[in-house]
Amino acid sequence: MVCLGNICRSPIAEGVMRHKVKQHGLDWDVASAGTESYHIGEEPHRFSQKICMAHGIDISMQRAKKFVATDFAEYDKIYAMAGDVYAEIKRIGGLGADMNKVEYFLNELHPGKNESVPDPYYGDESGYKVVYEMIEKTCTAIVENYK
Ligand code: 4NP
Repeated sequence: MVCLGNICRSPIAEGVMRHKVKQHGLDWDVASAGTESYHIGEEPHRFSQKICMAHGIDISMQRAKKFVATDFAEYDKIYAMAGDVYAEIKRIGGLGADMNKVEYFLNELHPGKNESVPDPYYGDESGYKVVYEMIEKTCTAIVENYK
C-alpha cells in the first residue's frame, strides 16, 4: 500500500487490509510505504489513527517508511493510492521494475478507472472518514478478488 507520506492514506490501508487478512485466515504479508521522505519514522497521522481505532483497528505501532526499488522483488502486488504516487513508484523502480505488479488501489473496486484516493493531509478530520470508507470498501474487494 503506497501513498506519498505514509502517514495518512497507506497506513489506514495497511491496518484495514491486515485486519481483513486476519479475519479471513489468509497468509498475505501486508505493508505500506511512501514515495516521499518527509515523514520517515513517524507514526500515522492522529486522524488516521482515530478513524481506524473507531473501527477497532490499532495502527499506532506503524512507522512511516519510504518505498524502495527492492520492494518490487519483495511484494507480488503494489498498490498506488493515487496517480502521482503511481508515477513515483515507476520512477523509483527504474528500468528493471515489473510494472505489471503495480495497480491503482481503487481499480480493485472500480476496474480500469485509475481513480485516486484523495489526499486528506491538508484538510480537516472529515476527509479521513471519506478516505477510510473508500479504503475499507476496496480492501473488501481485494479479499474477494484474490482469496
Ligand atoms: P499521505 O498524505 O500521502 O496520505 O501520507 C500526505 C502526508 C504528508 C504530505 C503529503 C501527503 N506532505 O506533503 O508532507
